[in-house]
Amino acid sequence: MNEWIEEWRREGVVVLPRFFGQEQMLAVEADFETVFGPPEEHLQVKGDDAPDRAFTDGQFLHFEQIPFKCSPALNLLAVDHRLIEAAKEALNTNSVYLYQSQAWAKYTGEANFDQPFHCDFLNHTLTVPSEDETRNSITFLIYVTDVTEAHGPTHYVRKSDSGTFTSAEGFLGGVDDLQEQLSVHEHSAAGPRGTVFAYGIDVFHRGTNLTAPQGYRYAVSSCFRAAGNDSISYSAWPHSFTRPWAQVFNHASPEQLACFGVPPPGNPFWSESTLARVARRWPLWDTTPYKEKLSV
Ligand SMILES: [Fe+2]
Repeated sequence: MNEWIEEWRREGVVVLPRFFGQEQMLAVEADFETVFGPPEEHLQVKGDDAPDRAFTDGQFLHFEQIPFKCSPALNLLAVDHRLIEAAKEALNTNSVYLYQSQAWAKYTGEANFDQPFHCDFLNHTLTVPSEDETRNSITFLIYVTDVTEAHGPTHYVRKSDSGTFTSAEGFLGGVDDLQEQLSVHEHSAAGPRGTVFAYGIDVFHRGTNLTAPQGYRYAVSSCFRAAGNDSISYSAWPHSFTRPWAQVFNHASPEQLACFGVPPPGNPFWSESTLARVARRWPLWDTTPYKEKLSV
């Protein structure tokens, strides 16, 4: 077992410095610049005077959902086999589903990225987080670039510190001075490129502003739930069918495709006909592992 899983279960949050290596992150960084352009295009300081501790549209100007018009490095990062294995362990299941993944670029001066403490559950479920973490989900926020305190690291509060105003009670309006109380226990997820910040939908956290001159922060989110847990959702992948899904199909393993809902080899969905038809949609997709397990 990954020793950090226990900490994640207990505190709802864990920071994993250098979870991913330099080489992999540099390839993803190059993809960010294919998708969003070079940072020089965005680094003009516009004097955003939005207040601290607020959500603004400007914070989400460069926020795109998977799949992307670039190489497999960025397209497959959210379903890297190490994340899949970690998600299975965290959620205590043999099969996980990726229900949200975005690439998010932030540039110094483009907006005030300072947010209030919040929990993510409002747009991941129509109810509230379960008291059993394995019935919720795990979000991995991957820092593709070095994130110092001046590059807008996420700040968070451990569950053992947020105590009685954890998640629902606090966030849904039961505590007047919630922000002040949480600030006392505020920690930073700052770390070098390749750092992963893993957290649950019931964990208080907030984005912070970028202040480094010419600074930028590239990050990828990857949210997993146990397969079949319909209480948690965000994206319906087929809804974005005009996006470059071939970039995922052409390079993903069957286990990675299963994270998007593609039945694995050996599943009764697959027949000579369904294989041939799906291959017409994605002509460069490797059908071999599926053909090998066709039931006869
Ligand atoms: Fe958030």
